[in-house]
Amino acid sequence: MTRRLLAAMSGWGKSWYAQLLFETNLPKFDLVAIFDYKDEYRGLVKAGLANHYIVGEREKAWSVDDWETFFESNPKVVLARHRLKPEEWQEVTASAVQALRNLAGPSRSALAGVDEAHFVAPQSGKIPDAIEGLATTGRGEGASSMWITQRLAKLDETVGSQCDERIVGGFSGDRDRGKIDPEYPEDVHNPQARSIARLPEELRVDGENLPLRRFEENGSTIGSEWVYSNNKGEMERRDTRDLSMETTHYGPEGHPIHDPN
Ligand SMILES: Nc1ncnc2c1ncn2[C@@H]1O[C@H](COP(=O)(O)OP(=O)(O)OP(=O)(O)O)[C@@H](O)[C@H]1O
Ligand SMILES: [Mg+2]
Repeated sequence: MTRRLLAAMSGWGKSWYAQLLFETNLPKFDLVAIFDYKDEYRGLVKAGLANHYIVGEREKAWSVDDWETFFESNPKVVLARHRLKPEEWQEVTASAVQALRNLAGPSRSALAGVDEAHFVAPQSGKIPDAIEGLATTGRGEGASSMWITQRLAKLDETVGSQCDERIVGGFSGDRDRGKIDPEYPEDVHNPQARSIARLPEELRVDGENLPLRRFEENGSTIGSEWVYSNNKGEMERRDTRDLSMETTHYGPEGHPIHDPN
């Protein structure tokens, strides 16, 4: 099993990248649950890779057993949050994650993808055992996980530090950047940095020490850069403009506020 962290400031392209990773991994796992806080991953459903299920008041009352029964008939599913408050979503996620972990084992691989993970595993307050267990249980755990967040400073530190693979983009705030604690100069994650420390060869762009960049066209993000690193000491600079996705990503872009001319 693997635990992967996907973190960057808002709008950097985490959910886009996460969807591509889900698209790639859905066929490879026996059980997949995507905890879709903002209802963005429907494109995976449209492409026939997963079922879609809206999680609201009724599902709030489901026990771990109920979730196990549910996953038996919906082994790959996008679970969209509907009108549940963050604390309610956290509780539902905990029960569903426990069910997924119970079903996973040597002969059944499972993947839990948690977007807006700082609501499910917040740094402040206690986090449910099922969630903590997903992030911390060692080699025996059958369930892999992907934690997606824009607020590293608000994500439970144990969860963040347990991830054995990290894909981290830009962060404008130093509080979030301070949590990355990388083995390379941290200011590569500051998109506003004018000049940054000498980077290891793998992280340079054509030999140049540049901070991570986000690329826009007509005000819309068309790609962004990331540092992939893992516990084996490997690292790589990635540019999502080099990647293409089969499914459609329905991002909540929001509406821009216009200034008068
Ligand atoms: N490589 C890419 N190619 C095309 N569009 C992209 C790419 N990366 C990001 N985008 C687009 O940029 C917008 C922002 O991306 P996304 O929603 O993934 O950001 P995010 O980091 O998850 O933000 P938030 O923290 O607010 O959820 C989306 O409309 C998304 O489709
Ligand atoms: Mg997102």
